[in-house]
Amino acid sequence: MSPFETNKERFVGNRFGMFIHWGLYAMGARHEWLKKAEKMTSEEYQKYFDHFDPDLYAPTAWAKAAKNAGMKYMVITTKHHEGFCLWDSKVTDYNATNTPYGKDLLRPMVDAFRAEGLRVCLYFSLIDWYHEHYTIDQMHPLARAGEEPANENRDMAKYRSYMFEQVREIMTNYGEIDMLWVDFSFDPAGPFAGKNKDDWGSEELVEMIRELQPGIMINNRLGLDTAPDFVTPEQYQAEFWPVDEDGNRLVWEACQTFSGSWGYHRDEDSWKDLRTLLWLLIDSVSKGGNLLLNVGPTGRGELDYRALDRLEGIGSWMKSHSRSIYGCTASDYTPPPNCSYTQNGNRLYLHFYQWPIRMIKLDGLKGMIKYAQLLNDASEIIIDEKDFGQIQTEGIAFGENFVRLQLPPNRPPVEIPVIELFLRDEKEISGHSDDAVATNFID
Ligand code: GLC
Repeated sequence: MSPFETNKERFVGNRFGMFIHWGLYAMGARHEWLKKAEKMTSEEYQKYFDHFDPDLYAPTAWAKAAKNAGMKYMVITTKHHEGFCLWDSKVTDYNATNTPYGKDLLRPMVDAFRAEGLRVCLYFSLIDWYHEHYTIDQMHPLARAGEEPANENRDMAKYRSYMFEQVREIMTNYGEIDMLWVDFSFDPAGPFAGKNKDDWGSEELVEMIRELQPGIMINNRLGLDTAPDFVTPEQYQAEFWPVDEDGNRLVWEACQTFSGSWGYHRDEDSWKDLRTLLWLLIDSVSKGGNLLLNVGPTGRGELDYRALDRLEGIGSWMKSHSRSIYGCTASDYTPPPNCSYTQNGNRLYLHFYQWPIRMIKLDGLKGMIKYAQLLNDASEIIIDEKDFGQIQTEGIAFGENFVRLQLPPNRPPVEIPVIELFLRDEKEISGHSDDAVATNFID
């Protein structure tokens, strides 16, 4: 397998990663777009740079929190739209080493996550609201309604070569990087008079990146017409496994926040509860995707206490249920209401968002299940294949190709219970009288 194929396979199997949005905006503590939202000039924004001193920064604690939650990789914002660099970039002074903190923040992070066994991926903003040659478009903090942007002294070509150098630095100095998560292109002809592949030099950029990191996966935000390595639905749940124009299934990763902001937001209170977060993970895997869940550390360098609380909850569920996540994908079987399936070979995982009363009916699975157990404690679940007869007047389904599971009356003491179904393999069911069953089999 090529380094790229190996990386892709690992990425897909890992299923769950931590996104980290960290920059000067953590100090404003009111969204990573605050420079734009409040139309701040770089001079006005400078107060954050001048006071940036994350003295409690302990990347090992971050890495442990991610690992305990069951996350297998991290993606860190090396530079966000504000233009500030976490690493010691040689092409700008606008980096962590020149703040009161005075040190490169990226290297210890990369080392700490690797030491905990997580894979390292980098986010890089194509957009840059600090660089003097980045032309002012309608998304820029200096854009003013009804005014022509003052771009006479700005030269995108100069910004482009600066950006190439930055990408070269992060692709060269931090070891093997599993993916580059660039952000983002927006239509030059659209209302924001945006920037696209020609502004970024996307084709050449990709060429350079692949030369420096042959195994790397690159996301879909460079504005290229060619197929991306993976796609990144953001802040909504995909309704089905994303496909290309020819209907081929794409590698995909949902990116989601704990609350409505990516950067640390002190006063934001739309925090998702544990069940919702687990649903995001299971639902993504049940549609063949990954989940990248975002934390916004504070200006002191700690993970938000609310995020830590949720991460712990996710971790305690993952401890006994990660088997239904890692290496799993969509199943061709249709789950019962309020449930999701994930599948790994002949193990089918039934997730319950709501615990039914006494029994549940599984379509398409007659004669297919060899053994069933609750995943949290490996306690047997009785498979019931008997025919109830035709009692449709009582609302009990009848027919050919389903089975029922007998469920304990008490909901298992976990946030989302899972039943692990061991399916018969093809050999064992060959010769089965019901052809419909055999054709339902998934390898
Ligand atoms: C958007 C936002 C940005 C965030 C990103 C994460 O593109 O501009 O703030 O980093 O989404 O997906």
